[in-house]
Amino acid sequence: MSERHDAVEVIVAKRDGAELTDSQIDWVIDAYTRGEVADEQMSSLAMAILLNGMNRREIARWTDAMIASGERMDFSSLSRPTADKHSTGGVGDKITLPLAPLVAACGVAVPQLSGRGLGHTGGTLDKLEAIPGWRADLSNKEVFAQLEDVGAVICAAGDELAPADKKLYALRDVTGTVEAIPLIASSIMSKKIAEGTGALVLDVKVGTGAFMKDVDQARELAETMVALGTDAGVHTVALLTDMSTPLGRTAGNGLEVAESVEVLAGGGPADVVELTVALAQEMLAGAGVTDVDPAEVLASGRAMDTWKQMIRAQAGDPEADLPTARHTHDVPAPASGVLTRLDAMAVGMAAWRLGAGRARKEDPVQAGAGVVWHARPGDQVTEGQPLFTLHTDDEKRFERALASLEGGFDIGGGDDYSPTPLVIDRVSA
Ligand code: URA
Repeated sequence: MSERHDAVEVIVAKRDGAELTDSQIDWVIDAYTRGEVADEQMSSLAMAILLNGMNRREIARWTDAMIASGERMDFSSLSRPTADKHSTGGVGDKITLPLAPLVAACGVAVPQLSGRGLGHTGGTLDKLEAIPGWRADLSNKEVFAQLEDVGAVICAAGDELAPADKKLYALRDVTGTVEAIPLIASSIMSKKIAEGTGALVLDVKVGTGAFMKDVDQARELAETMVALGTDAGVHTVALLTDMSTPLGRTAGNGLEVAESVEVLAGGGPADVVELTVALAQEMLAGAGVTDVDPAEVLASGRAMDTWKQMIRAQAGDPEADLPTARHTHDVPAPASGVLTRLDAMAVGMAAWRLGAGRARKEDPVQAGAGVVWHARPGDQVTEGQPLFTLHTDDEKRFERALASLEGGFDIGGGDDYSPTPLVIDRVSA
């Protein structure tokens, strides 16, 4: 039982720039989860935190209090080590789909408890739900059994995993308080620590299509999360990766599943393969497996076998045709030359407006909607040839999607073009 406090006392302390005590933090998270602290009080506190920050001790305590609001999973009885990956969210970021079966095929179990997408970045569960029959909701017993049998599970995080964060994240989403590093770091890490993974690799996105628009902010977020994970006994590293350009060639649920299957079949876009292998190497190293080369396992087809088992174990049919949108619309290149910029935010917004994402968490998503881009920065394009193909079930959506692509790319002579590296930096304890 935490000492009793008063919501206004805690809000005023943070408003005036004071450090919150451990006891104030424990109380406010517990009282908010129980409904004793009202939404308007918590939103005021979240804004005070956004404006005045929290130090390392406060963030660690806040994270612990959110973990303590629910259950903590424990996979230490599994016959193999565990590792997970979390991405802070990007456009075309389907990496979890090939990555989880790849790491499992290399001998490390992957318990990936995910959420759904909100806004312009897609959610992993929405992507997998494009596969006929696939179900996201598993009991803890099913998660354990699948980790032992198949080695990889991607499923919905249950209501008992950090319930304080569930409530607080929904509140931040509608009160302009998502973009606070202490709140993002504690939100992500409370769920990942409660999930019980032994090793964790964070893919912290940087660029127009990411939360973090500049590399210094991204590094601060990465360092904060790595410190939280390490202190909790989870082997944690972070890669800072580029999200000024969308990943691969597709954004949209079914479209991204198809692209992931291409990667598992040994093909697919080079950037998706590069990031999948880089993250797999980090996950394996974090779990203590250093004698397996994930690039070789990907090329061998073993990751594809694990993918099929993973989809079947959750009632999906990996061989079934994926849903396609009722309407498509090609956008021709307006000039010939080199594509020198393709903006992740513009593409993400277009996919979202076509129906691939949701505006409110209860909205449905279209399985077939999204954007395919036929060139990536550095590629030659020809005037009049399709640069994008838009997919949607609802033709009326094309106009607004086209508007979001306006100004979202440049075609030039290519002299001023220099590729940005995909992996920008690595942060470890
Ligand atoms: N993802 C989360 O889970 N929480 C945040 O606060 C931001 C992104």
